[in-house]
Order: sequence, then structure tokens, then C-alpha cells
Amino acid sequence: MDSFAHRAADWDQPSKIKMATVFINELKKNIRIEPGWKALELGAGTGLAGLQLLPELSSWVAEDTSAAMLEVLQGKLQGNEPVTIVKGEIFAYTNRDIDLLFSVMAFHHLPELEKAIQHIATLVKPGGYVVVGDLMTEDGSFHHFEPIPHKGFDPEQLKKRFEESGFTIKKVYVYDSLRRERIPGKPSDYEQFILIAQK
Ligand SMILES: C[S@@+](CC[C@H](N)C(=O)[O-])C[C@H]1O[C@@H](n2cnc3c(N)ncnc32)[C@H](O)[C@@H]1O
Repeated sequence: MDSFAHRAADWDQPSKIKMATVFINELKKNIRIEPGWKALELGAGTGLAGLQLLPELSSWVAEDTSAAMLEVLQGKLQGNEPVTIVKGEIFAYTNRDIDLLFSVMAFHHLPELEKAIQHIATLVKPGGYVVVGDLMTEDGSFHHFEPIPHKGFDPEQLKKRFEESGFTIKKVYVYDSLRRERIPGKPSDYEQFILIAQK
């Protein structure tokens, strides 16, 4: 089931654009992107993050499980950009040619996290980077208490999973906080962390 189908058409709201932009700026503070790089974005959605990085890359693989989100992304392309769209879980991509794998606010949707990280380790070239931005552990209110695979993360645990898959952790820290009123009358701050790993 595509749980993003009904949200895709109006996903590109100022709050989402800001969230993607803050993440990309943080990524760029930490990684010097080289023009020949091939990047893969896990959970690329409508391309809010990846399209900002595309001019600096050699090519971008936009992977997502939602056909509806990817259709919105497709609609933004002229057709001659070095972009490959992969609809499916991360396991659908198998080339071992990625210099940079990044993901913002999609890891908490991964049903098979450990397996996904092990797979990611096969895609990223030696010396290549993984950059993940996601929520710190929350009480489930961020998703209105709907069942999702992860209510955010303890970054220390995520760090361990990457280390077990052969990555060296360069940095993990909180980089932003989202104020959202998920419970009427009770605004909460949801912190976001960034994790930078190198293979
Ligand atoms: C919160 S949205 C973020 C989208 C985009 N990264 C952004 O910042 O606008 C989460 C995205 O993850 C995708 N997603 C959900 N489960 C996924 C999975 N198992 N593998 C890859 N992407 C997934 C959704 O379809 C959606 O596009």
C-alpha cells in the first residue's frame, strides 16, 4: 500500500521545502561533493532534497516506494537530466557504484532496517559516504500514532548498525528541530539528527 499516495500532489509545502533545504545545507557543511559523483537518495519522494544537489553531481538515483511521490518528481524533470528513478525498496537497486547515499526523513519508514543497511553497504563504493537525516526517538505523535516501522531513532543504535555493516561514523548530532502541533493545543518539538558515515 502506498501510504503517501494521497499526500503526493501537495507534498511540496513550504515546511517540507525548508526541511529538505536545511538537511542539504547540513550535508554540504560536512561533505565536499565531487563533480564526478553518483548519488543515490533513499526515499527521494518528490525530489525536494535531491534536486537541490543534482547540479553538483554527475548523476542521481532517486529511489522511493511511492509511485505517486515519484510521479510528482518525474513531472519536474525535462527528460535530459542524469536522473534514474527506481520505484521500490532499496533492494531494487543493486549496482555497486554509489559515491554518496543520502536520505532525509525516510529511514523511519524502513520495515527491514538492518537488512537495508547491509544492502546499502554493498552499494556504496569504498571511501563513499552515507548521510542520513531523521527524527530522534519520539512518542509516535509525529505520525499521529499511526503504526510506522520506527518512532524515530536513538542515533547511537543506528550508529552501531552502520558500524556493524562496515562503516566508520564520522559524525552524529542534532541539527534541527521541528515544531509541530500534532496533538491540538499541545505543540511539540521534534529533534532531527544527521549521521555521516564513510565506508
Ligand atoms: C517523509 S517523506 C520524505 C520525502 C523526501 N525525502 C522529502 O524530504 O521531501 C518519506 C518518503 O519515504 C518514502 N518511503 C516510505 N517507505 C519507504 C521504503 N521502505 N523505502 C524507500 N522509501 C520509502 C515515502 O514514499 C516518502 O516519499
